[in-house]
Amino acid sequence: MSEEEQEILAEEEEIAEEEEQVPAEEEEEPVADEEAFAEEEAFEEEEAVEGEEALEEDVGEEAADELPEEEPEAEVEADVEEHLKDAVDGSMRLKRLLTGGPAGKKQKTSADEGKVRGLMMKWQVVGDSGVKHVLDNMEPAELNALIASGYAPGYHAKKTPSELLAGHLNQLKERKMVNGQRVDIIASFKFRWSLDMKADQLLRTLSHKDLRYVVNNFDNSVPLEDVVNEAALEQPEEDSTENSAPQAPGLKAMSRFNRLELIDPLADCAVFGDANLTFSMNLARHRKHLGHVGRVIATTFEEIGTLRERYPEIDESIKTLEDHHAEVYHGVDCTRFAMDSRFKGMEESLGAVYYNYPHSGAIQGFFDSHPLVNWRHENLMRLFFRALRTFVKPGGWVKVASNAGAVGVRYSYIVGSALENEFMHVETMPFLEWHLHRYGRSYGDRRDTYKRPDATNNQSYNAQSGNSDMVYCFSYAPTGKTMPPQYMAVPPSLETLQQSKDGPFKNLVGVAKQNYANQLHSRFVTEISGVHVG
Ligand SMILES: C[S@@+](CC[C@H](N)C(=O)[O-])C[C@H]1O[C@@H](n2cnc3c(N)ncnc32)[C@H](O)[C@@H]1O
Repeated sequence: MSEEEQEILAEEEEIAEEEEQVPAEEEEEPVADEEAFAEEEAFEEEEAVEGEEALEEDVGEEAADELPEEEPEAEVEADVEEHLKDAVDGSMRLKRLLTGGPAGKKQKTSADEGKVRGLMMKWQVVGDSGVKHVLDNMEPAELNALIASGYAPGYHAKKTPSELLAGHLNQLKERKMVNGQRVDIIASFKFRWSLDMKADQLLRTLSHKDLRYVVNNFDNSVPLEDVVNEAALEQPEEDSTENSAPQAPGLKAMSRFNRLELIDPLADCAVFGDANLTFSMNLARHRKHLGHVGRVIATTFEEIGTLRERYPEIDESIKTLEDHHAEVYHGVDCTRFAMDSRFKGMEESLGAVYYNYPHSGAIQGFFDSHPLVNWRHENLMRLFFRALRTFVKPGGWVKVASNAGAVGVRYSYIVGSALENEFMHVETMPFLEWHLHRYGRSYGDRRDTYKRPDATNNQSYNAQSGNSDMVYCFSYAPTGKTMPPQYMAVPPSLETLQQSKDGPFKNLVGVAKQNYANQLHSRFVTEISGVHVG
């Protein structure tokens, strides 16, 4: 048995102990939409209230927050190398959309405009700029289906009609994909190939060697049973970690690989959006312990000055990372890193990428699910996965941890963005079963200075249910086809913001309202230029 295999077994014993503390395997089940989100909403509501209080001060002074300077985009755009253009095209288009430039936005036909007006009258929400924004940006077929369904947003004590409408549209899309909770390797495979229960049962009887063969080779061109028979005749090389424990139960062994983070020892990996760097420290220690020689690139969106204000131990953490031969970069925007010279030459080099609890920042007074701010969370994932296409090597892993009931970055934004960029969904595993889960989670904003997460018990988001924290796991499977331009959620125009009566706009009138709309719009433009705000 190789040294590395012995390591695996030692790690397996450790994880077996951990598994006693985590919930037993559950059947795949759909998220009960509203109830499952209740806990998280309680958390978000608390944050929104905090936001409203802070906002009153800001607006009272009628002062725009000091936003950092952005680079002139035209110059940046011209500098991007040809092969990187696709990785940043979405971000550039988004900025043009926000600043009123040509961005290829589809014009509504007068028939669609009539339909939108008709629905708004029927729902008695004429003048609600949030609802109009959502309806205006629907595809004509979607709009027709919505009208035919007879849906109406109705009344909700906490949610505005536009939030209800946007939530409903998201749920319709989510019905067509895997659910947000635990989905094991076989359930994901079955979903991907539209297999039946009989196939599911067969796959669950296979050994590690055979299941891995089937998962890697089945493409629906021949019956599953034939590929299972082929697998039995296959004798894989013994010198690779993936081929160890061939006779172990297939599902259990493959799931262990994922939980133990037994990635390619030679592959480089990168962490995005790691605020206090404790996750990166975990990963660097883990890889050193396993004798991996691939690089560990640890990145934060925040610049070092901000990190020092929030995390007094940050310099020590950076030193620990460097002692483990990790590289640490700050100010890295995961949607635009193709333009970052520090990533030059890393094309197709990453064998594993991580982004835990992605969130594009809370906006005071708005719930994360509100469509006037939620497009930022959606696009964070869409642009991230598009950028990864250039940097992840075929077969490379991408893992994104998030709460199954999150209403900012919804699970469907993660899974949907991955799939449309040819990152195949492999498994959704409970976060607490992941070997790397013990790190000091953070909010990644100003709250971290006074509200530190409890790293020991992993209770950084105190109102969220730990059991709904998941790791969405993907493997890059490019087909070589030319990709269509990245679909993006359209941001609200300045006019839409100026007319809003939701969230922070509810109690604002006249100049104060115009000022706040301008301020928010400027913040959006700054953010999409890759500058961290908040
Ligand atoms: C909820 S925090 C999670 C922080 C950390 N990953 C964790 O698990 O504790 C979200 C993080 O995403 C980062 N972020 C937001 N927009 C980003 C972007 N465009 N690129 C990279 N990181 C981003 C924020 O700065 C923040 O640190």
